Amino acid sequence: MSFDFPTEVVKEGKVSVVVPKLEAFVKEPWEYAPSKAPVFYNPLMELNRDVTVLALQAYQKTVKRKISVCEPLASCGIRGIRFAVEVEGVRKVVVNDINPVAAKLAEFNVDRNKLAKRVLVVHGDANLLLAHYAAPRRRFDFIDVDPFGSPVLYMDSAVRALRNGGLLALTATDLAPLCGVHPRACVRKYGGRPLRTEYCHELAVRLLAGCLVTMAAKHEIGVQIVFSQCTYNFARVIAIARYGAKRADSSVRKMGYILHCFNCFHRETSEGAIPTLDRECPACGSTMSVAGPLWLGQLWIREFCVSMRMLAEEMKLKNQKRILKLLPLIEDEMDAPATYYVVDKICDKLNLSVPPLASVIEALNEAGFKSIRTHFNSKAFRTNAPARVVKETIIRLSSHRRSNLR
Ligand SMILES: C[S@@+](CC[C@H](N)C(=O)[O-])C[C@H]1O[C@@H](n2cnc3c(N)ncnc32)[C@H](O)[C@@H]1O
Ligand SMILES: [Zn+2]
Repeated sequence: MSFDFPTEVVKEGKVSVVVPKLEAFVKEPWEYAPSKAPVFYNPLMELNRDVTVLALQAYQKTVKRKISVCEPLASCGIRGIRFAVEVEGVRKVVVNDINPVAAKLAEFNVDRNKLAKRVLVVHGDANLLLAHYAAPRRRFDFIDVDPFGSPVLYMDSAVRALRNGGLLALTATDLAPLCGVHPRACVRKYGGRPLRTEYCHELAVRLLAGCLVTMAAKHEIGVQIVFSQCTYNFARVIAIARYGAKRADSSVRKMGYILHCFNCFHRETSEGAIPTLDRECPACGSTMSVAGPLWLGQLWIREFCVSMRMLAEEMKLKNQKRILKLLPLIEDEMDAPATYYVVDKICDKLNLSVPPLASVIEALNEAGFKSIRTHFNSKAFRTNAPARVVKETIIRLSSHRRSNLR
């Protein structure tokens, strides 16, 4: 089969696929090559695909049966093909794309990897495809929604096409709304208010998870978030969906709000979908800003992440080193309080030079508070110390006011 645009062969994980030759589609260096090509392909999302291979294998090991997989927005098919080849116990994969050229290229790549018996390529709309598979006994064990921008347009159909106890992965690349640059767009799409705080990447994940919980609850489905990540340009949530009104109720109970004081860095959570919010900052008396409703529950399940890390140690993934840095960070931070502090941001506001992150963490730990790094931001830490103590510690460790610096 030939294509009337420049292509090249790329290797990822254990597969090799044909993709558009990206440099042929950009005229200016600042142009975003993946979306200029006739079929979308982004080599930087390999980390996202690697982590998903690990999550899917970890899941398959817990259910201990052959599983079916759907990638409703598949472009060249690389992700679905990787699931079929790299994850043990995958019985069937359905990959789909609305772009006819993408579907043709995916078909070509499936044949190239000799997977025609296990991987079905469909050309059509993602919601139509998912609706077709929403009937009992047709539903999938795993659905990976990886669209342009927001996954909300596909969330409802994905939840309906997932079997009881199935695994759902969502990618959102619309970080501008989710991180509070376009708050109205976030409220419109995700039903929750974002905030441009230093921990906006955690809020992005919690807003995405909260939207899923609310959507699934309408179908009397409860959601357990097993893995979350926000790196590079995407927020990612991976969740197990279980049928039952009671399970849905208990997920909804973990919804709530995060209140943030832009004056003194104080932050607090308020559980419950319809709470009475006292917005006066208990630390300084200012009026606090509110993010939410959003997910306040766990963002990770320890056994699931440990299983992913053990698989990452065995599997020879290109991002192995990066993943083996990411997963232990996540394991460390998973029981720490919601929200984190970014040392640079606090120093900016207080006009201080920036002390080393390690010394801030050490000082807080020595003072009897638990402090830990976060994968969301390499310059940040979570702690149970009050904002006042965080501020005082940073002031003490900072050698001088910025204005004294040359
Ligand atoms: C970000 S790309 C997918 C990348 C792919 N999952 C990967 O890992 O390389 C999004 C894809 O969704 C497809 N798409 C957009 N709207 C769609 C729809 N309504 N139904 C099915 N596919 C759609 C686009 O053609 C594009 O190929
Ligand atoms: Zn305050």
